[in-house]
Amino acid sequence: MTRRRNGEGGSAAEIVFRNVTKRYAERTEAAVRDLSLEIPAGEICVLIGPSGSGKTTAMKMVNRLISITEGDITIDGQSVKDLDVTELRRGIGYVIQQIGLFPHMSVEDNIATVPRLRGWDKGRIRERVRELLELVGLDPDEDPGRYPSEFSGGQRQRVGVARAMAADPPIMLMDEPFGAIDPITRERLQNDFLRLHALIRKTVIFVTHDIDEAIKMGDRIAILRPGGVLAQYDTPDTILASPADEFVADFVGADRGLKRLSLRRLRDIELDPVPPGNGVTRIDADTTLRDALSLMLAGQIERLLVMDEQRPLGICTVDVIGRLLATRGTDAPA
Ligand SMILES: Nc1ncnc2c1ncn2[C@@H]1O[C@H](COP(=O)(O)OP(=O)(O)OP(=O)(O)O)[C@@H](O)[C@H]1O
Ligand SMILES: [Mg+2]
Repeated sequence: MTRRRNGEGGSAAEIVFRNVTKRYAERTEAAVRDLSLEIPAGEICVLIGPSGSGKTTAMKMVNRLISITEGDITIDGQSVKDLDVTELRRGIGYVIQQIGLFPHMSVEDNIATVPRLRGWDKGRIRERVRELLELVGLDPDEDPGRYPSEFSGGQRQRVGVARAMAADPPIMLMDEPFGAIDPITRERLQNDFLRLHALIRKTVIFVTHDIDEAIKMGDRIAILRPGGVLAQYDTPDTILASPADEFVADFVGADRGLKRLSLRRLRDIELDPVPPGNGVTRIDADTTLRDALSLMLAGQIERLLVMDEQRPLGICTVDVIGRLLATRGTDAPA
């Protein structure tokens, strides 16, 4: 991970959808219907919903790859309709699955696309490419001259993310960026991206089919139902704790209680006091509640002593976790 440079890290923009409807000319049914969403600057908003529910359509209206039929989308208060379309798109990093990279161009040229359009000088571009490759875990010495076909799917995705970030845009649109990738690589890319996002906070709209990915990546999740209607827009914790209706409850799955437990770590919760004496199993405070519960059930362990390094924080029991599950969720992301 590289350190933060000047001009990086500060840029993010609020995106607001106000009663946005999209009708494709040849269809009478709306693809997106009366969608209202406020995405605070610097947050990751995940769009999720069944195939055809309008996720890609909603996203592409932000950079005007698709026109808005009714309503409006604003970026920091300015309507996207009033912005110069070229400028608008240069301020938005866009990651799409597979077809994203130009196959006939080297990695360096792929990443440098927008900086070149912006007229950066060669030295600055070269430096930026190196910095980004390092940031996404590729080799800044070996990789710039290679071509997309010489990389694995996961590495190509990294190049795609680097390219989208090249000119430090305040907004990133990511349409199923880790879709067709094996679960292990996918998890690594997710973790890398979250780490990156914590360093360089941009406003991100992230489309996925995968509810586990949505829960992991999203500060907030927007669930769309067929017909492009918003079913619920909330933090992952609130969606899991209080799904708005049957559709959302089905969508997040019957194991939503367990999913909720994977969002929190032992160090974040109220534990029981530590009794005198010892003989309890110790566990690290960074363990998720889900893993702690699993350990207790599988090992028939009644109490865990939660340790922050050498310091005992308290006692976790099945009851402690059960009490938490009875609460209705949080409004703000952790
Ligand atoms: N260019 C188009 N012309 C007409 N209808 C379209 C067009 N693009 C998309 N649609 C329709 O709009 C609806 C929403 O499509 P969209 O691509 O936004 O769905 P999605 O949620 O991204 O689906 P998926 O998960 O399969 O990618 C679908 O019914 C689709 O058939
Ligand atoms: Mg789509």
